[in-house]
Amino acid sequence: MDEEKLLEILINAQGYVSGERISRELDVSRTAVWKAVNKLRSTGFIVLSSTNRGYMLADGPDMIIAGRIRENLNTSTIGKNIYYFRECDSTNEMARKGEREGHKEGSVYITDFQNSGKGRMGRQWFFERNKAIAMSILLKPEVSPDRMMPVSLIAGISVAGALSRETGVDCKLKWPNDILINGRKAGGILAEASIEGEYAKYIILGIGLNCNIEHFPDYIKNTATSLMIESGKECSRELIICAVLELFEKYYFEWLNENGKNLRRYSYSDVYRDKCITLGKKVTVISSDKEFSGTAEDIDELGNLQIISNDNEKIVLSSGEVSVRGENGYY
Ligand code: BTN
Repeated sequence: MDEEKLLEILINAQGYVSGERISRELDVSRTAVWKAVNKLRSTGFIVLSSTNRGYMLADGPDMIIAGRIRENLNTSTIGKNIYYFRECDSTNEMARKGEREGHKEGSVYITDFQNSGKGRMGRQWFFERNKAIAMSILLKPEVSPDRMMPVSLIAGISVAGALSRETGVDCKLKWPNDILINGRKAGGILAEASIEGEYAKYIILGIGLNCNIEHFPDYIKNTATSLMIESGKECSRELIICAVLELFEKYYFEWLNENGKNLRRYSYSDVYRDKCITLGKKVTVISSDKEFSGTAEDIDELGNLQIISNDNEKIVLSSGEVSVRGENGYY
């Protein structure tokens, strides 16, 4: 019998699952279920059993347990439905599939191994099995495409806030939403939207965080970091996920209830400015159609970055790659 399938049932269960249900779903005998449970136990999974209620997964080697997140999560919409995958190509893609199947706003997709993670600007996103967070949130706000940018800025401050709450590290944001610790990238956010008519049909907000990674491949080893490297301690991915989702719900609905009209009026915009290392700095911008240098002045009400170029021109940037000049060169 396929233990992976049994594991999937146990992981996604909201508590105990009866042996009878498992044997029905997997089309095997109750004895085969019992044997497979013991096999899981022998590889480090803690599976509780109760004569009347069946089986429940209590812990596993280094894995995220969706049921535990559900139990600890204090939100009303974001994360009410959590879909967990032991492995997938990209959680943004799982969210897209979920949306097609009619999943609700606030559904969250999490994996322990993302094998084709996508980064911004068409880059690939590095992921180490069981050592990082890859999650996506499905959102269906009634906002026009030009007003969607704050959603990803809100995600940035939610991650920064969650990290300082759960690990104590001082985390900064590089516009729009690179998650930096000590000038190195510990996480990133990829927002993908589908537009239908006037409004966004949906937004998928993908969040990647390097939690307990100790070594990075050569191509990013000088620019990437992790919470473990920066804090010297292993962190709980489940607690961080809960903290991110709780903060995101607070800021997102605050913004949405004001119809997503104006970034400046909401409390999160001050939080964003406070966390954003780009403001007031010399920057170099490389976007699809231009390359220039200047000083980052402010974030406007739509989340765009306002830059005064070296030629004294005011440039409003809605996307692109911004390098910030620090003490040791640009990053
Ligand atoms: C960046 O390049 O800064 C954005 C990285 C975003 C990575 C996350 S991991 C979860 C979600 N799924 C993906 O394929 N990408 C995002």
